[in-house]
Amino acid sequence: MQFDTLIQGGTVVTASDSFVADVGIRGESVVALGAGLPAAGAGQVIDARGLLVLPGGIDVHTHLDMPFGGTTSADDFESGTIAAAFGGTTTLVDFAIQYKGQTLRHALDAWWKKADGKAAIDYGFHCIMTDLPDARIEEMRSLIAEGVTSFKLFMAYPGVFMVEDALIFKAMLQAGQAGGLICMHAENGGAIDVLVRRALAAGKTAPKYHALTRPTTAEGEATGRAIALAEMAQAPVYIVHLSCNEALEKVREARDRGLAAYAETCPQYLFLSLENMDAPGFEGAKYVFTPPLREKWHQEKLWAGLAQDHLQAVSTDHCPFCFNDQKQLGRNDFTKIPNGGPGIEHRLSLVYTGGVHGGRFSANRFVELVSTAPARLFGLYPRKGTVAVGSDADLVLFDPDQEQVISARTHHMRVDYSMFEGIRVKGVPRQVFSRGRRIIHNGLFTGKTGAGVFLKRRQYAM
Ligand code: URP
Ligand code: ZN
Ligand code: ZN
Repeated sequence: MQFDTLIQGGTVVTASDSFVADVGIRGESVVALGAGLPAAGAGQVIDARGLLVLPGGIDVHTHLDMPFGGTTSADDFESGTIAAAFGGTTTLVDFAIQYKGQTLRHALDAWWKKADGKAAIDYGFHCIMTDLPDARIEEMRSLIAEGVTSFKLFMAYPGVFMVEDALIFKAMLQAGQAGGLICMHAENGGAIDVLVRRALAAGKTAPKYHALTRPTTAEGEATGRAIALAEMAQAPVYIVHLSCNEALEKVREARDRGLAAYAETCPQYLFLSLENMDAPGFEGAKYVFTPPLREKWHQEKLWAGLAQDHLQAVSTDHCPFCFNDQKQLGRNDFTKIPNGGPGIEHRLSLVYTGGVHGGRFSANRFVELVSTAPARLFGLYPRKGTVAVGSDADLVLFDPDQEQVISARTHHMRVDYSMFEGIRVKGVPRQVFSRGRRIIHNGLFTGKTGAGVFLKRRQYAM
């Protein structure tokens, strides 16, 4: 058997197993996995001894080229997907936004245009729904048929994205019947709005008031409400960017009762805390995203949640805004700081460092959190999310011992700061393959802009 690429002697790590094996790639797929695969006639032979061979990372929460907060997120589908590739992510699921009065199809067409010809890795879309007349709810079925099988709803951002409980419930009923999955931004937007207005009236305009006006109780309450609505609708629910113990407890209780409740957290909630918002001057604006940073003790709760499967995934909520111009929009008023932070590039390294080197979980659980579980939940498995014969050859040759200090000076995201500046990680992607093509090698992007394809995802079926 001849291979286009033969990866020799690495330790293949999946969500369930770790074993030394060669990986044979032909075309876009893994076609063989085993000891001593024949190198004769192979297009290229890569020595992976000492390296882990991981399935490509899957980031199911990104906002590329997203209009928000009076500006647009700084990475588009070209720069954002290249930065993702440097970090070992080979698939992402971004959010197409349906604005009030528009159809879901309109949202999808708009985001296809943004990604087509630009994305360097494969991508899918969730659809954010911002108004929900009956026609829109009916239209969810046709999106699901086209492979857009998940929908994000907001319980926060009144006047922008927030929808009321009755509409959330209707959308959940439809998702439950049609094989969709509702992704929920769970914060009590009404209560937060009152706190925000009070803070501004008292002259509290600095970035840290973004965090102080969004208490953990508001996230815990909304998470519990979202789960209760999903239970009544007999539908699954996926809580996005879960940041605190109160919300985690709601998910844990629901899962203990056997409900189809899932949640992700993000590296910023695992590595950063409220203390970052005390950075001098306006620097706290670098950490203005939603939900906000929490007191430090929540971090260990979240790590434990990841280890014990109370949380199922780590995604980034990558939504970058440059400090020097975009974040400055809120210099005199924290409510005008565009909400979001950059993180698409360092997810694997951060989670490996804190999770595996930190002694909190195994390399297999790491793979499950950053690749396999997102693939299963969002209808991409087993094409994506594992290393197996027949799966796409989306692979990461990962050096578990290489160290790197994260810095805006060396990252590839198109943003002028790093949320993780100065953090030393141990575990770095050395080579990355997307459908058989080597796209990261020797510290360079060797792929092609526009080579990423739209992924038609399967219906929710867990
Ligand atoms: O601050 C954030 N998270 N910005 C992106 C939008 C969202 O709520 O996910
Ligand atoms: Zn959100
Ligand atoms: Zn988001």
